Amino acid sequence: MNTAISVTHSGLPPGPKGTLLGGNVRQFRAGLLNFLLETAREYGPLASFRIGPRRVFLASGHDLIEQVLVTDAKHYIKHFGARAFKPVLGNGLVTSEGAFWHRQRKLIQPAFLKARVQSYIPTMVELTNQMLSSWTSGKSVQIDFEFEALTSKIALKTLFDLDDRGDRARFDGVLKLAFDLMNARLRRIIKLPLWVPTPANRRLQRAVAELDRTVQGFIAAGRSRQHHGNDLLSRLLLARYEDGRPMSDRQLRDEAMTLYLAGHETTALTLAWSWYLLSQHRRVEEKLVSEWQRVLRGATPTAQHLQRLPYTAAVIAESMRLFPPVYVIGREATTELELGGYRVKPGYTVLMSQWVNHRDQNYFPDPEEFRPERWQNGLAKRLPKFAYYPFGGGQRICVGSTFALIEATIILSAVGQHYRFTVDPDAVIDIKPQITLLPANGIPATLECRSRTSGFAGP
Ligand code: HEM
Repeated sequence: MNTAISVTHSGLPPGPKGTLLGGNVRQFRAGLLNFLLETAREYGPLASFRIGPRRVFLASGHDLIEQVLVTDAKHYIKHFGARAFKPVLGNGLVTSEGAFWHRQRKLIQPAFLKARVQSYIPTMVELTNQMLSSWTSGKSVQIDFEFEALTSKIALKTLFDLDDRGDRARFDGVLKLAFDLMNARLRRIIKLPLWVPTPANRRLQRAVAELDRTVQGFIAAGRSRQHHGNDLLSRLLLARYEDGRPMSDRQLRDEAMTLYLAGHETTALTLAWSWYLLSQHRRVEEKLVSEWQRVLRGATPTAQHLQRLPYTAAVIAESMRLFPPVYVIGREATTELELGGYRVKPGYTVLMSQWVNHRDQNYFPDPEEFRPERWQNGLAKRLPKFAYYPFGGGQRICVGSTFALIEATIILSAVGQHYRFTVDPDAVIDIKPQITLLPANGIPATLECRSRTSGFAGP
């Protein structure tokens, strides 16, 4: 079944309609990034179109984005795409709303303060070193796969104090199955409610039940530990609401699952795209290496080094500009609102795309060029709000942004002191925009020990 998409100028229906991209949902998905970019470039700061029965706006004016995410935030909820993951994520921070979300955010946020996150650095370094000890010069690797495995291990250790290989493999297995089934459900045009016992619904429910059992097992193990560790689950087990009550096991499950899912793939993608870009820009890489030589002198990075690695920070910022791991976010109006001179009715969706805004040449001259130098001299401070927002903004801004930036800096410098990557020259590096910005066929590369290309010692 085809669902027509027509793009109209930002006038509300029955306003003027100019078709930019005829086609169906599959085409829409395949060409999503170009569609978003062309729509914004052709129709300006606010465009509107339909996806099936839904009226959707694309807000690309940074002041309009601020209005949605900050000024009018209380009149919007997460859009249908985010809500669709509730069967797996439950009612965790990403999917919950209103007073309930607010209470959870207040309880969880302290666990992500800088000082707390810095206490995870030794774990990040140790697990990175473990990965490095399994590498040798000349080895073929899939860059995205390596960093996904590493950030998954770091997330499980820092979240659940879990390092048993069997547990991790089992958890990853059930999670992947649940997500594959969930994605298959999302692709279906007609989605029967989950309680209708179709074979597909039953498979999904079985996978979710298995996932629940696995996470409840981690929670039970956390509760039974005599001494609470440094992991996030321990902190959440000890946390109390204002009335003194602890979080229920069900809520712990939803929050832990959400943090694991929201937290590890996004950082892995930042690292994978960064290494891909560096492999194509060796001069940038040389500058990075000389920063590490000057500041780290071959030592593993620590919290004290973080402020002294500005070029590393600029490379990460520039990589997230060109390949924002979360490239589009959305909200749904709960009441009638004004946006850019037009009416947004309850139920309408507003999309905001980092992919689009991060390529605005008014703020980023030669936007397709990978140029970390643009971040020097305080560009981040000079930009208007929402010209660059890899972590979103307003009250729903990413709770893990500090975690992500520290983790990316630590891993990039710990790995980069020892190895560089040469991406296979025949590989076609394509982007698959799903919930996050994935490399379509992976990023195959060969490892090269840095000691052969610079003064650094090998691992
Ligand atoms: C480079 C890495 C990351 C990127 C690019 C990223 C991006 C984002 C974005 C754009 C949002 C806002 C979504 C929206 O407004 O609809 C968000 C929310 C969120 N992120 Fe991240 N994130 C990253 C890493 C992490 C990490 C490491 C964690 C936790 C360990 C995390 C946990 C969350 C949670 C729980 C939310 C929902 C917050 C709320 O609504 O209160 N993220 N993230």
